[in-house]
Amino acid sequence: MTAEYQVNGDVAVITLNNPPVNGLGHATRTAIVSGVMKAIDDPAVKAIVITGAGRAFSGGADIKEFNSPKALAEPTLHTVINVVENASKPVIAAIHSVAMGGGLELALGCHYRVASAGAQIALPEVKLGILPGAGGTQRLPRVVGLEMALNMIVSGTPVASEKLLKTRLFDQLVDGDLNEGALAFARKVAAVRPLPKVRDLKVDYPNYEAFLQFSRNTVKAMAGPFPAPLKCVEAVAASVTMKFDEGLKFERELFLDLVQTPESKALRHAFFAERAAGKIPDVPEGTPMRDIKSVAVIGAGTMGGGIAMNFANAGIPVKILEMKQEALEKGLGTIRKNYENTMKKGKLTQDKFEQRVGLITGTMSYDDIAQADIVIEAVFEDMGVKESVFRKLDEVMKPGAILASNTSTLDVDKIAGFTKRPQDVIGTHFFSPANVMKLLEIVRGAKTGKDVLATTMALSKKIKKTGVVSGVCDGFIGNRMIEQYSRQAGFLLEEGALPEQVDKAVEKFGFAMGPFRMGDLAGNDIGWYIRKRRYVEKPQVTYSKTADLLCEMGRYGQKTGAGWYDYKAGDRKPYPSQLVNDMIIKHSADIGVERRKISDQEIVERLVFALVNEGAQILEEGIAMRASDIDMVYLTGYGFPVFRGGPMFYADSVGLTNVVMAMQKYAKGRHGEAWKPAPLLAKLAAEGKTFN
Ligand code: 3HC
Ligand code: NAI
Repeated sequence: MTAEYQVNGDVAVITLNNPPVNGLGHATRTAIVSGVMKAIDDPAVKAIVITGAGRAFSGGADIKEFNSPKALAEPTLHTVINVVENASKPVIAAIHSVAMGGGLELALGCHYRVASAGAQIALPEVKLGILPGAGGTQRLPRVVGLEMALNMIVSGTPVASEKLLKTRLFDQLVDGDLNEGALAFARKVAAVRPLPKVRDLKVDYPNYEAFLQFSRNTVKAMAGPFPAPLKCVEAVAASVTMKFDEGLKFERELFLDLVQTPESKALRHAFFAERAAGKIPDVPEGTPMRDIKSVAVIGAGTMGGGIAMNFANAGIPVKILEMKQEALEKGLGTIRKNYENTMKKGKLTQDKFEQRVGLITGTMSYDDIAQADIVIEAVFEDMGVKESVFRKLDEVMKPGAILASNTSTLDVDKIAGFTKRPQDVIGTHFFSPANVMKLLEIVRGAKTGKDVLATTMALSKKIKKTGVVSGVCDGFIGNRMIEQYSRQAGFLLEEGALPEQVDKAVEKFGFAMGPFRMGDLAGNDIGWYIRKRRYVEKPQVTYSKTADLLCEMGRYGQKTGAGWYDYKAGDRKPYPSQLVNDMIIKHSADIGVERRKISDQEIVERLVFALVNEGAQILEEGIAMRASDIDMVYLTGYGFPVFRGGPMFYADSVGLTNVVMAMQKYAKGRHGEAWKPAPLLAKLAAEGKTFN
C-alpha cells in the first residue's frame, strides 16, 4: 500500500504513504489514480484532499526508478496529473514539510493548494542534472510569475511556503492542524465551478524577451559543463512563448534528453552515494549512541584550529589544548582572524561571530579537558608524539569519552593500543582547510566500538560533513589512492611532460586543480616528509625524484613564493618556471630517459586509472565498504569532477574492459608493474560488470 484512501464525511482523503519521502514511484502513482477514481465514483464525496504521511508531502519522482521501465510505466506522473486536473470534483493538495519536484508538480495539477508554514517548496531537478518533467516548468511560472519560477527552477533552491503566500501557488496557509484545515477548505470550495486549473492562467511578463535573453546569458556563464540549467531556461521560456500543451511537450522532450546525459547519471549517483555512505551494515539505525555536548582538540595548528571551528559553528563548546602558551595564542588568533574574514565578507553577523569565538577556549592543562565527551588529537604526524598524547588521554579522560585521532597516515590500531580502551578510539581524518572541506574520513579501528562509530557518524552530520568510513591502512581511502596518482604525475614529468601540461590536461578533464598546482598550494614539503619516511619502509616502490629535487631547491610552493611554478608577490597565479622545467629535463637525461611528446589523453588516463586501480584494491580489501564510498571521498575531498561521478563511477562509464585495456598498454611502458590490474577490476571487467 503506497497511498491510503479514507472518506471523512463528504471529503475523500488520499494520503501518500511511501516512506521515507513519499517518492512517486509506480505503485504510488497507481494508488493515487485509483483513489481519485474511487472518489469520483462515490456520490457521497464532494471534494478530494491529497496529502502525505510522515516527513513529506512528497519528495518527487522516485529517482531510483529513472532509466528503468517503471519510470515510463502507466500511469506516468503526466497521467496522474491529468487525472487529477480533469477530475470532476475539486482536488486540494494539503502540503507540509517537503513538496519537491514531481511532488510539487502534482500539487500544481490540483485545483487548490493549502500548506503549513515552513514547508520546503522546490523544483530541485536541476541538481540531478534534469529539469522538471511533469509540467513544473509550465505551471510554476503561471502561479509565481516568470522571474521567480525561473530562479527556483534554475537554482533548485527550496523556498519556505510562507514566503510564497502572496503568489497564486497557495490558496491558504493553514495554522494548526493541516488535515483539519484542508478538510475545512475542501468543504468551502466543494461546490465552486468551474474548477480552477493552473494551465488556464497566463504568464504575464510584458518585456519577457529581454528578460529571457539576460537569463540565458547569465545561466550559460554559470552552468559550467552541465547542460541542464540552460535547458531549464528554455523550458521556462516556453511557458510564455508557447501554448500550454506545446510547452508541456517541449518540456518532456528536454527532460527525456537530459535523463540520458552522463552528467545527470553522475549527479544522481552522487545523490545516492552520499546517502549510502551514512549506512554501515553491522551498525544499523538505532545503535546506541553517546551524548556529545563538549569537545576537546589537542594541537592548535593548521588542522586543530579548523576542526575546532566546525564544532563552534554547530554550537558545541570546544577546548583546545597546546603545550606552549605561544602556540596556543597563535592558534586562537588564527581562528579569530578566520571568523573576522567571514564577517567582513558579510557571511557572519557580529552576534554569531562573538558566539562562535566565545565557544572556543584554550588551555595547557589536561585537567581542563578531562570531562569532554570527545577529544580529537591533531598534533604532529609522528607516532612518538601521538603515543605520548594518547597515553595521557587514557590517563585523564573520563570513562566513555571518545578518543579520536586526525592522523592522515598513521596506524589507528597502533594508536588505540597506547590506551586501555581501544573500543573508544577512532580516526577522524579531516581535510584541509578543515572548516571548509566537506569530507571526513572516519577510520574504524579493529576494536572501535559500534556505538563510537555510530556517534562519530552522527557527529559528522551535525557539523555538516560527509562522513565516509574507511578501514585502517596506510593513507586510508583518499591518500592511499592519491599516492598512485602522484606517482604517475611524477613519471609523466620524467617521460616528457611539464607541470603545466599535466595540470591543464587534468583540469580540462574537470579536476578543480592539477597535481602540481595542488602541491604548490598544500606545500610540497609535506609530501617530501612523508616520502622520506614511507619509501624507506617500502624500498620496492618506485617513484620520480623530481619532487624531492624541487624541495631540495627550497621550492615548497606558494608559502615560499616558488614551487613547481613561479609566483609573484601577492598573486596566487602560477607562472611556468624555466628553472623547474630545466631541472625536470635535466633529470630525464640523468636517469637516461628519452623525453617524448605525451598526449593529454595519456595524462588523464594514467592519473585517473591509477586512482581506479588502487580504489579496486581498497574495495577488495574491505577498506572501503562500497565503490560509491570511494567516489564520495574523491568528490568531496579531492576536487574530482562532480559531473563524472567519482573515479569508480567514471571507470564504470568508460567500461571496465576499456580501463583494463588501457592499463595493459601502459604496462608495456616504464614502471609497468604499477599497471597490473587489481584482481577485482580484472574480474569485473572479464564478467562485463561494473563497480557500482
Ligand atoms: N526518490 C527516491 N528516494 C528519495 C527521493 C526521491 N525523489 N528523495 C529522497 N529519497 C530518499 C533518500 O535516498 C533517502 O533514502 P535512504 O534513507 O534509503 O538513504 C531518504 O529518502 C531520505 O533522504 P535524505 O537523507 O536526503 O533526507 P532529508 O530529510 O535530509 O531530505 C529531501 C529530504 C529534501 C526530500 C531530500 O532527500 C531531497 O532533496 N531529495 C531529492 C528531491 C528531488 O530531487 N526531487 C526531484 C526528483 S526528480 C522529479 O521529481 C522528476 C519530475 O520532475 C518528473
Ligand atoms: P601543525 O604542525 O600545523 O600543528 C600541530 C600542532 O600541534 C602545533 O600547533 C603543535 O604546537 C601542537 N603539538 C605538537 N605536539 C603537541 C602535544 N604533545 N600536545 C599538544 N599540542 C602539540 O600540523 P597540522 O598540519 O595541523 O597536522 C596535525 C595532524 O593532522 C597531523 O597528524 C597531520 O598528519 C594531520 N592532517 C594534516 C592535514 C594537513 O593538510 N595539514 C590534513 C589532514 C590531516
